[in-house]
Amino acid sequence: MSAKSVEGLPASMRGLALLAIVALSGTPFVHHLSASPPSQSHGKQAQANEASATCGTCHVAVVRNYSAAPMRHAMEPDGANSELIAHPDLKTTIGLYTYRVTTKGGHTTYSVTDGSNTISTPIEWIFGQKTQTWVLEKDGRFYESLVSYYPRDNTLDVTPDDANIKPSTLLEAMGRPVSTAEVRTCFDCHASGLVPGEKLVTAKTIPGIGCERCHEGAQQHMTDAAADNFKTIPKHLKRLDAQQVSNFCGQCHRTFDNVIRDRLHGNGTVRFQPYRLELSKCFVGNDPRISCIACHNPHQPADRVASHYDAKCLACHSSNNASSAMHSAKICPVSKSNCTTCHMPKTDIPGNHAQFTDHYIRVVKTGEDYPQ
Ligand code: HEC
Ligand code: HEC
Ligand code: HEC
Ligand code: HEC
Ligand code: HEC
Ligand code: HEC
Ligand code: HEC
Repeated sequence: MSAKSVEGLPASMRGLALLAIVALSGTPFVHHLSASPPSQSHGKQAQANEASATCGTCHVAVVRNYSAAPMRHAMEPDGANSELIAHPDLKTTIGLYTYRVTTKGGHTTYSVTDGSNTISTPIEWIFGQKTQTWVLEKDGRFYESLVSYYPRDNTLDVTPDDANIKPSTLLEAMGRPVSTAEVRTCFDCHASGLVPGEKLVTAKTIPGIGCERCHEGAQQHMTDAAADNFKTIPKHLKRLDAQQVSNFCGQCHRTFDNVIRDRLHGNGTVRFQPYRLELSKCFVGNDPRISCIACHNPHQPADRVASHYDAKCLACHSSNNASSAMHSAKICPVSKSNCTTCHMPKTDIPGNHAQFTDHYIRVVKTGEDYPQ
């Protein structure tokens, strides 16, 4: 059932219809939904709800799940990162410089010394929930920390892509200077609250990717919904096809076109899932069975159990699809389970201290180069 069918009903019946939606969708709602036209006390109740409603007032499960998702924590403010709290004293020496990242009393400090002089600066913006890089502000200028934290190996090491920087001053050793325009792009993919076309105002940004970043118009919908008005429900993203979803997620994960236009090569492109996925023979733009959201619930961490994905592959690669309107693809001669372990191999990017999943689904040949 869609919101449209609700809009067409007289006001007195909308409450009932919504109750039906709730029952069908299984989403637990805890707010009042009434079948009668609003009475005076009802009106007051609605106003009270309007003032105090959050997305979680109604979308209980989504908000609970999303609170643990890495995208929610793609940027964190000082003091909020569990990796740093668990590892309060990190240290490494690279060339002439010794770096230290210390967390005490809810604050993290980044410092670099050459033995005689030291620069220390508070870390205000933590990018990445697990593997992380810090954006530093010093004397009114922004820098990207020259070292990052890699939880897999519990180590500080050079920030990805900065390996060719050979610092000759302490300030250069602290971080790579980044323009305000570049910092804005970091915030735009990792945080919320940026106004399109406006300059970055760090104080106004909200760390992490908020609901509104993907669900345009959600604030208006929340205000209206709290007053029992369901005419402004955000666009149903589930209805997008595979190509549209790829482009939507690709705003941040990079689209196929981004990778081609920027002439990106090498196995670093494994990080750009829309590009890799679209190289696969499996990818058919108008088939929802191969969209990002067929395999990933954007409100949850990625499932780490290989067998979770079998049903997604078998939705196409199975002889049982004969009755479905969608055509079937070939069947594996080798195995009936854990498909992704062989066909979506994990790849190490040198210097990244982490593995990434190659979304270019294929028969992997032993010893083959990283196919582009
Ligand atoms: C007072 C209750 C209420 C509040 C508060 C509320 N919503 Fe909703 N929302 C609904 C109802 C009812 C629907 C329509 C039912 C459905 O589609 O499941 C809906 C639909 C949606 C949809 C479309 C779902 C789909 O099927 O595609 C999105 C997205 C959404 N809400 C996001 C949000 C966000 C984000 C917030 C907070 C900024 C929010 N809502 C606050 C009640 C609420
Ligand atoms: C506003 C930018 C943005 C958009 C839009 C976006 N992502 Fe992300 N996504 C990120 C960032 C940043 C991370 C890395 C978070 C981290 O690990 O700190 C991430 C991480 C993820 C992860 C890894 C989760 C894990 O458990 O490791 C998945 C899966 C994911 N995104 C899927 C999606 C899908 C599917 C869509 C489209 C529906 C999407 N993303 C749209 C920015 C975005
Ligand atoms: C176009 C959107 C975009 C921009 C711009 C961007 N990021 Fe990201 N970032 C992402 C996505 C998406 C991921 C998750 C990638 C993945 O899981 O493969 C990510 C992951 C990360 C991570 C986690 C590291 C890791 O290896 O998983 C860090 C740290 C990070 N970004 C820092 C930054 C910094 C600092 C900037 C600015 C200099 C920046 N990002 C700019 C989209 C972006
Ligand atoms: C990274 C992008 C992204 C973010 C952030 C995000 N959503 Fe969604 N959301 C989606 C996509 C894509 C769909 C459609 C997929 C589906 O329905 O399976 C969706 C579906 C929904 C739905 C309808 C389906 C359902 O599960 O009930 C609701 C309601 C919703 N989102 C609310 C929220 C709320 C509330 C937040 C913040 C706590 C949020 N979303 C954050 C991308 C996002
Ligand atoms: C939307 C349907 C669809 C989905 C979902 C899908 N595939 Fe495919 N796949 C295809 C089609 C179509 C082909 C091309 C020819 C054929 O096999 O019929 C293909 C081809 C392949 C090939 C052969 C590629 C080559 O280079 O010759 C492999 C291996 C494969 N898929 C594995 C998988 C795995 C593993 C999954 C799940 C992770 C998956 N597919 C998900 C439709 C799909
Ligand atoms: C143990 C590794 C392994 C697993 C697990 C595995 N495959 Fe394969 N798959 C292969 C190999 C190797 C080939 C190539 C066989 C050949 O060419 O003789 C192959 C071939 C294929 C092909 C191409 C068939 C053709 O006729 O061209 C498809 C499609 C495929 N697999 C899908 C899947 C699906 C779906 C799953 C999970 C249900 C799966 N595979 C699980 C190793 C695996
Ligand atoms: C056919 C299933 C499938 C599709 C479609 C798919 N993914 Fe994945 N994705 C996976 C698997 C499997 C993993 C690895 C999970 C694990 O950690 O074991 C993964 C992991 C990820 C990660 C975590 C980083 C990494 O490299 O492991 C991100 C981010 C991600 N996917 C984004 C996307 C985006 C964006 C799309 C759409 C362009 C997409 N995925 C489409 C199966 C899929």
